Amino acid sequence: MNIGIDQLAFSTTDYYIDMVDLAKARNVDPNKYLIGIGQSKQAVVPPTQDAVTLGASAAAKLLTPTLKKEITTVLVATESGVDNSKAAASYVKHLLDLPDFIRIVEIKQACYGATAALIMAKGLVALNPQEKVLVIGTDIARYGINTPGEVTQGAGAVAMIISTNPRILKLNQTSVSYSKDIMDFWRPLYSENAMVDGHYSTQVFIDFFKNCFGRYQQQTGMQLNDFDAILTHLPFTKMATKGLNGLLGDRDDKVAQRLRTSLKASQVYCREVGNLYTGSLYLGLISYLQNAPHHAGELIGLFSYGSGAEGEFFTGTLQPGFANQINDVQNDLNQRQKLSIKQYETMFNNQLGLQEKDIQFDTSHDKSHFILTGQKNHQRQYQVN
Ligand code: CAA
Repeated sequence: MNIGIDQLAFSTTDYYIDMVDLAKARNVDPNKYLIGIGQSKQAVVPPTQDAVTLGASAAAKLLTPTLKKEITTVLVATESGVDNSKAAASYVKHLLDLPDFIRIVEIKQACYGATAALIMAKGLVALNPQEKVLVIGTDIARYGINTPGEVTQGAGAVAMIISTNPRILKLNQTSVSYSKDIMDFWRPLYSENAMVDGHYSTQVFIDFFKNCFGRYQQQTGMQLNDFDAILTHLPFTKMATKGLNGLLGDRDDKVAQRLRTSLKASQVYCREVGNLYTGSLYLGLISYLQNAPHHAGELIGLFSYGSGAEGEFFTGTLQPGFANQINDVQNDLNQRQKLSIKQYETMFNNQLGLQEKDIQFDTSHDKSHFILTGQKNHQRQYQVN
């Protein structure tokens, strides 16, 4: 049975900052951010947006009245959850006006969460081929103002439909997952910002990638030259480059050049948006599909990584007609408004966060379809425009 990704959509906020402006404000050589880290712009989140509204916005781009009736399960993967008990999927389902006879779950496993959801969705569809599962990876990456991680912040959501006879990517049988209990990146319940041992996390990512790919080779007999592309989780573009270099070593033959060129195409949108945590690998997939020439039947390897930590290497086969099933991301990114560093800092410091009190946000500037208007009686308030 062919099961895989049938549709893909991406959504981010309406605002961004330029990494040259950020470097100047932080007294850093801009080339450290542009070349050393490999980021050019970063999505900025207004107080009126959160993981729920971003996730709903991505899903709304692919929903039609017919598809709304066909979806059987909504899996929302996030590490920017808005409640310790109630699933973000519950809010998202409501905002999208999906029918009540539907299964809704939130999944957390750091940046690996959307892949966990994808694998679970594949299992559901394998058991009941008529099912269509909506998988959403939605997050806000926050490290804090004037921290080493600040340059790697970002925000956005990817939504995908998993079904039989997929029109984008057929998921292949073998996948390898690898996990260890480590502290490379975490966010205690009392903190809005992530804590990270940045250099350690990069090393763990590279090691997990090598371990997963090595086991995959042993199990399948496949080699690097079998792949048209090998894409990875993208917290910042340089990290993916380091990960692929870990597999390629000193190789600079045609295979290595092809894989490096493919990876570069996958990094185009991350460079403009920053880290999406759960959605990053899948924004990388969209970026690759929209920024490189393709042929149906291509073999694409995907390495998903979530801190804490878990990695998984799996593969998909590109389907004809994939291009019509994805929104035009570059066009959406071109509509965004640039902010000054001061404006970004104000937005960063005025989120709903962990406060208990009632809050009513000024929503007049937010033209989004889904808006967080504030908090009342300890309940988040959302609005559909
Ligand atoms: N011109 C060009 N390059 C320059 C430069 C200049 N003027 N100055 C410095 N550089 C280069 C450095 O040589 C270095 O390159 P290499 O990595 O290739 O050696 C690069 O810029 C970064 O320099 P530093 O290592 O000195 O930077 P730093 O100490 O400020 O930290 C960082 C960088 C560790 C990535 C930090 O930004 C960070 O901690 N980011 C967050 C961590 C992160 O995203 N980890 C990813 C895994 S966790 C994850 O993905 C999240 C999840 O699962 C939930």
